[in-house]
Amino acid sequence: MTEPALTPIVPDRIWAMERPVWFSGVRLRARTTVVRLDDGGLLLHSPAPPTDALTAELRALGPVRWLVIPNQFHHLGTPPAAAGFPDARVIGPASAAAKNPALRIDVDIADGAFGAQLPEVEALPLAGVPFLDETVLYHRPTRTLLGADVVLTADADDHWTWRWGARVTGCYQRVRVPPDVKKKVADKAAAARAVRAMLDRPAQRLIVAHAAVMTDGWRDHFAHAWRLVGVDV
Ligand SMILES: [Fe+2]
Repeated sequence: MTEPALTPIVPDRIWAMERPVWFSGVRLRARTTVVRLDDGGLLLHSPAPPTDALTAELRALGPVRWLVIPNQFHHLGTPPAAAGFPDARVIGPASAAAKNPALRIDVDIADGAFGAQLPEVEALPLAGVPFLDETVLYHRPTRTLLGADVVLTADADDHWTWRWGARVTGCYQRVRVPPDVKKKVADKAAAARAVRAMLDRPAQRLIVAHAAVMTDGWRDHFAHAWRLVGVDV
């Protein structure tokens, strides 16, 4: 029997899978998170290209209705996911569409229009960091913040290349703003307000693409990471 692709995070509501991705010479783990919405439909955050095993597991959980591209970098898996789940609507930033001609975006993540269709999800844009152009989602029923690159970390489960890279860049077993984002905070006051809005949500966990799921103490780690890059939250 093969290993299941999805690991439960919140019983009956949130699952995730990880896959290896190479970035700047190191192998990271990239997470796709699956949220079962109140209507039973599934939201895939930062979709991976669907394998047969993943597709079968998703079909057993419910219909895939939403594919979320969280920032202008996490878009590569979405065109194959959109082909595999043609009824799903794609939410994402225009900046990702500008980079990837294969991408079709149905709902701009920045215009807030999807809030009317997904009232259980709140969009929290990371203002002040256009380099990333990320919007974090807050899922109210599970009190979960869903992001991609707002922070990251490496730990013992990571590939040696990223363990090494993380030690060099100060991210090993420490929650940090990604090294390539640190110097790209264009408006620190705006970023501070945006990070504060995320901290103010009554979230019990923070799920990002390249770190273990953060629960106890996530606020302290998240705020500290941003303070280190001069964002006064
Ligand atoms: Fe990333």
